[in-house]
Amino acid sequence: MQQSGYSTLRHILFKLDPEIAHNISIRLLAVAPKMGPVRRWLTNLFYYNDSRLATRVFGLRFDNPVGVAAGYDKNAIAIDGLASLGAGHVEVGTITPKAQYGNQRPRIFRLPEDNALINRMGFPNHGMEKVAPRLELDRSIRLGANIGKGSDTPLDQAASDYSKMITKFQCLVDYLVINISSPNTPGLRSLEGRDLLDSFLLPLMELHSKECNDTPLLVKISPDISMSALDDLLDVVVGRGVSGLIATNTSLSRAGLRDSRYVKIGGLSGRPLHDRSNKVIQHIYRQTRGELPIIGVGGIDNASAALEKIRSGASLVQVYTGLIYRGPGLIRQIKLGIVKELEKLGLDSIEALVGVSL
Ligand SMILES: Cc1cc2nc3c(=O)[nH]c(=O)nc-3n(C[C@H](O)[C@H](O)[C@H](O)COP(=O)(O)O)c2cc1C
Repeated sequence: MQQSGYSTLRHILFKLDPEIAHNISIRLLAVAPKMGPVRRWLTNLFYYNDSRLATRVFGLRFDNPVGVAAGYDKNAIAIDGLASLGAGHVEVGTITPKAQYGNQRPRIFRLPEDNALINRMGFPNHGMEKVAPRLELDRSIRLGANIGKGSDTPLDQAASDYSKMITKFQCLVDYLVINISSPNTPGLRSLEGRDLLDSFLLPLMELHSKECNDTPLLVKISPDISMSALDDLLDVVVGRGVSGLIATNTSLSRAGLRDSRYVKIGGLSGRPLHDRSNKVIQHIYRQTRGELPIIGVGGIDNASAALEKIRSGASLVQVYTGLIYRGPGLIRQIKLGIVKELEKLGLDSIEALVGVSL
């Protein structure tokens, strides 16, 4: 379904509560690949690849740099459907040790004038025991698991939640993400501070080194972090041997929004986040001289926004809110746009573009 086809479907979906609309989409993506003719139809519509899109990041080969961000398929039920849209990777989660409902509904809000969303989901998910078996299938797509602490786990015991999930998931996925940047779990972001982060990461890195220790371990960070706090964080993650960063999660800032009906509580995603997350990415790239791989996420809704993230220093990119506003053809559209740019510049690999704007 190309952009024009999606505008009718979007019209219908946008009449529904955002979470209900999302649940319908994810269920369709879960069942579609199980029906042969539908899977072939999806592949015909969305499949596109080019060897110039392939890239190696933290020791792994990705067919293309465009993935689906955490929160879209929290419970790992639609991985094959998302693969048929052309994603190079899917990051499932955030998963917690036990199943949890999350915050009260409504908890996702659309801001159409800003091409944005505000959410305060609070990690609703089926829990690690239910999700893990869904990751056991052999797949061509790269898989990440994003892990968080349970809502009833005190902050000083957070490391024990993350440890359980590292043990559970590290041999099942291609990479793991320690999420310490959701604004919807009280206190979670304090783990981004230098001293707390250092003592929090120590047992996790030790545990991680025991089994499947070649599974990259990443940390997902907030766009609201100050540049000096980011420098502290970089010292710690580099010192502790973290494999890369995901920049960024949603923002608490409401600066510059056109839509005055926005809600106060929750994290902002979509177009208004684009420049903010780019600044974080550029800073990381510069400070680490491009040596710490970055997955760039925040406000990508077309190819030029994805290219800006890559030029800012991201080796891979992810989309979430863009899929809601632009539809399932977005991933293909981004890949086509990147290849066009590579052709224009006479480059034979996406890797040649990483960090070039700096
Ligand atoms: C409804 C919703 C739920 C999300 N849930 C999670 C989550 O569980 N874990 C996480 O790390 N990020 C979560 N995110 C953040 C996204 O992964 C992404 O970092 C952020 O939305 C910025 O990208 P975007 O502008 O393309 O949406 C969520 C975002 C949205 C909109």
